[in-house]
Amino acid sequence: MAAPTANSPAHVAIIMDGNGRWATQRGLPRAEGHRRGVETVRTITFAARDLGVRMLTLYAFSIENWKRPQDEVGTLMSLLEFYLKKELETFVRDRVRFRTIGRTEELPAGIRKLLTATAEETKHFTDYTLVLALNYGARTEVMDAARAYAAAVANGEAKLNDPNWSSFSRYLYTSDMPDPDLVIRTSGERRVSNFLLLQAAYAEFVFTPVLWPDFTKADLEAAIADYNRRERRFGLTSEQIRATAPANVR
Ligand code: FPP
Repeated sequence: MAAPTANSPAHVAIIMDGNGRWATQRGLPRAEGHRRGVETVRTITFAARDLGVRMLTLYAFSIENWKRPQDEVGTLMSLLEFYLKKELETFVRDRVRFRTIGRTEELPAGIRKLLTATAEETKHFTDYTLVLALNYGARTEVMDAARAYAAAVANGEAKLNDPNWSSFSRYLYTSDMPDPDLVIRTSGERRVSNFLLLQAAYAEFVFTPVLWPDFTKADLEAAIADYNRRERRFGLTSEQIRATAPANVR
């Protein structure tokens, strides 16, 4: 594994888009685009770690994706099942912690079982985490968090007038995750599509025209280089940021 660079974003999140167009352009069924998309998931999981990333979150299935034609939903579920069966061994061998965000309780039982087993068997790894967003939607996440917060207020665990973001954000699916530093969307679309809306409040965004099945380690490296050319200000001024930055990043 290459040594992580000081400037690597710790958490990269990716909206993997363009599988369908990749297939259509080649006269292939959309399912073939998704199958190739899974190959890219494998490549990029390890490429990100080589580039010094500590956490990679991939938007694999949104709540809205259930509205796709039934056969396409079936293909995506089969691919997910196949992927999980195949990858568990790799994650254990290569020390990848695996976890999910989203309403996974609504996924088919066979997949739920695999998700639980994979998360359980890899939970002690600390260097690198792969997060799959599955049956995920940011608005649903906020509603789930609001419900949990209200219940905590009702039973006295949380204070209604507590003004801290951290006292609410602990009810999000991502409570124990750092916010993404860099969000990438492939395929030329420039939308957020209900992905990590709150967590990406201060993230940098990179939009690339490359379709997900064609996305390579070099493309990820280019996105990280773009990220490194930017100044993250978190609402402060440029002067304030430069005054507080450590000497090696000034
Ligand atoms: C977007 O392509 C992609 C998705 C619907 C989700 C990503 C899914 C995969 C990469 C495969 C399954 C993943 C795992 C981890 C098993 P699109 O179909 O919207 O492309 P289009 O906009 O060109 O039609």
